[in-house]
Amino acid sequence: MFEDLLRGWDGEEAVIRFDAASGAWMFVCIHSTALGPGGGGTRMRVYPTPADGLADAMKLSGAMTRKFAAADIPRGGGKAVLAVPRLPEGEARRTLLLRYGELVAALGGTYRTAGDMNISPADLDVVAERCPWVYGTTGRGGNSARGTAIGTLHAIRATVEHVFGSSSLSGRRVLVQGAGAVGADLIRLLQAEGADVLVSDVDEARAVQTGATVVAAADVIGTECDLYSPCAVGGTLNAETIPELRCRAVAGCANNQLSEPEDGDRLHAAGILYAPDYVANAGGVIQLVGLEDLEWTEDELQQGLARVGDTLRTLFRASAEEGITPAAAAERLAAERVAAAARVGR
Ligand SMILES: NC(=O)c1ccc[n+]([C@@H]2O[C@H](COP(=O)([O-])OP(=O)(O)OC[C@H]3O[C@@H](n4cnc5c(N)ncnc54)[C@H](O)[C@@H]3O)[C@@H](O)[C@H]2O)c1
Repeated sequence: MFEDLLRGWDGEEAVIRFDAASGAWMFVCIHSTALGPGGGGTRMRVYPTPADGLADAMKLSGAMTRKFAAADIPRGGGKAVLAVPRLPEGEARRTLLLRYGELVAALGGTYRTAGDMNISPADLDVVAERCPWVYGTTGRGGNSARGTAIGTLHAIRATVEHVFGSSSLSGRRVLVQGAGAVGADLIRLLQAEGADVLVSDVDEARAVQTGATVVAAADVIGTECDLYSPCAVGGTLNAETIPELRCRAVAGCANNQLSEPEDGDRLHAAGILYAPDYVANAGGVIQLVGLEDLEWTEDELQQGLARVGDTLRTLFRASAEEGITPAAAAERLAAERVAAAARVGR
């Protein structure tokens, strides 16, 4: 099973280790180092089979290559999965993370990790005891939600500008789905710009806390607004929901917003402008790499985050001029940057 996955993958290197003491499989997938060392989070999860964990790491590492390339950050794509029989706690968790840190250290910096599902900044502190290539520990660049929210705000401004001719958010009706770490921050930023913000969260207390107008979780898709901002879960844009949308544009921070690639075409055909998710939500990795690796000042960080909007403006222009979807324009931009860097052998 691993063999089929490895043969069919377009990435550079997959490192597989079985940790007999915990029963965990460690998969580190480095998809591309053309633009720089592979960066991406470590995810800890229980999978139906170890091969599902490897497949997840492979797929997610390719997405990181596209995210960094589109953001023009000098990092390649990587992702790691700790496929565990059950989520470990206490000393068992600590020893697993230490052994994982040794594995990442042994790769000599070709893969640099941050957190992802079930891996907290405190977990990363443990990994960092054995490995220097760790972003997002408790003591360093801070929670990436801040950068993600600011980057998403720039994405929303650029999207609104393309649709309505002005980037002003004053009076614009923006529906934010998910008032979590990023969504709550984003709502504050939108409110400060005078937007008419609607919010929905399955945890209604979180939605209420934002002070925005609350929409029931089940009513999000049919609610009339200028822009829908998915900031909760993936897959909310699909063949069933797209015909029901009552908005002119979509721009949010959630990963994997399209259920399948054809949903980009469906949005385009429906006349709804879509800001590709991995472009709109790149602010988190821009913050982590910028502050922790590239030694940016706060000013440089803000300029880096503003480039999320500039990238989208370029993509929307290409989309309008060439009759392709913004998602296709983003894929092309990322592929061109990786190919150009691979040619000069960086
Ligand atoms: N945190 C980051 O820096 C970052 C970076 C890039 C992408 N993302 C993506 O952005 C999304 C949000 O991230 P976060 O860190 O804010 O997560 P979070 O877990 O802090 O918040 C998610 C919120 O969504 C709510 N929610 C879950 N299902 C919902 C539904 N069906 N309808 C409405 N609300 C629902 C949850 O109750 C929670 O309040 C995720 O898809 C994440 O993968 C986050």
